Amino acid sequence: MEMEIGVSLKKHGYLNIPIDPKMDLESEIQRLKKEKNAIILGHFYITPELQDISDFIGDSLGLSQKAKNTDADIIVFLGVHFMAETAKILNPNKKVLIPDLNAGCSLAESAPADKFKAFKEAHPDHKVISYINCSAEIKALSDVICTSSNAELIVSSFSKNQKLIFAPDKNLGNYINSVSGRSMVLWDGACMVHEKYSLEKIIQLKDEHPDAEFIAHPECEKPVLIVADFVGSTTALLNYTQKSTSKKFIVATESGILHQMQKQSPDKVFIPAPSIDSTCGCNDCSFMKLNTMEKLYLCLEHELPELEMDEALMIKAKTPILRMLDISKKLTN
Ligand code: 13P
Ligand code: SF4
Repeated sequence: MEMEIGVSLKKHGYLNIPIDPKMDLESEIQRLKKEKNAIILGHFYITPELQDISDFIGDSLGLSQKAKNTDADIIVFLGVHFMAETAKILNPNKKVLIPDLNAGCSLAESAPADKFKAFKEAHPDHKVISYINCSAEIKALSDVICTSSNAELIVSSFSKNQKLIFAPDKNLGNYINSVSGRSMVLWDGACMVHEKYSLEKIIQLKDEHPDAEFIAHPECEKPVLIVADFVGSTTALLNYTQKSTSKKFIVATESGILHQMQKQSPDKVFIPAPSIDSTCGCNDCSFMKLNTMEKLYLCLEHELPELEMDEALMIKAKTPILRMLDISKKLTN
């Protein structure tokens, strides 16, 4: 069995072991979780059934805050690789599991560490703010990390005279530049999901639903953000839909969040914003959707795949993450 597991992990990036189709996956996951003192942390973009089985569901900031404070022995991360890395960096002595090692992120991949290092060296008098959607290597090269929830706050923690690099998301960077009046130097990276929205189709949809508010995540491109009634992180969008008196929303972010919106406001209507290619399901992050109930069960049962990271890298990457958590605490309290 050990051999099979090793081969399966190497070949697939996840455990590919047959599961009895009669097994009640949900109760088995609950049992294993209790037995092993494990916590399941899930991002808003995973499937509804995984969101419902998570102990905590949140955006990138909420998930890192939760990861920092948990007393569980095992963290199972239902999200993507950089999120599990952040949890591991904050908990180097805990076991961090990720059901599928292939759950990457196009945005994180758009900033290779060697190229980013050269970019940073070309701007020696700049401080570096990196969006949490990046590899641990990029975090280690940064002064402070931010998420879409706290990007404005993190940027404002630097004096107006301080020159800044913002990486890797040019759309979020552009948005923060426009609301803060800064002119941060931007790394040319983007998210494949948020870049696919069609402005033309959104405008058409707005015309068809004049009673709907259009809300968008700041990873979307500038022309889309300009026509939005509200721009915010996944948590901010969720809170907005609950508080707003509107009954209908066109939502430009990954479609997983619609589950929470609908749960919180069952009487409201949520329409996913259309992508350039309406046949491709581009509103789904294919990396997030690699997480499944079967992989979660196998991951908890065998405690694999486990995230393993270089200790020196974790130490370097931890400082800018802690700085972010500290600034967020001070500025939100
Ligand atoms: P937030 O969770 O910060 O809203 O970011 C969305 C995202 O793209 C995560 O990958
Ligand atoms: Fe990365 Fe975009 Fe997927 Fe978020 S939605 S994990 S930024 S590819």
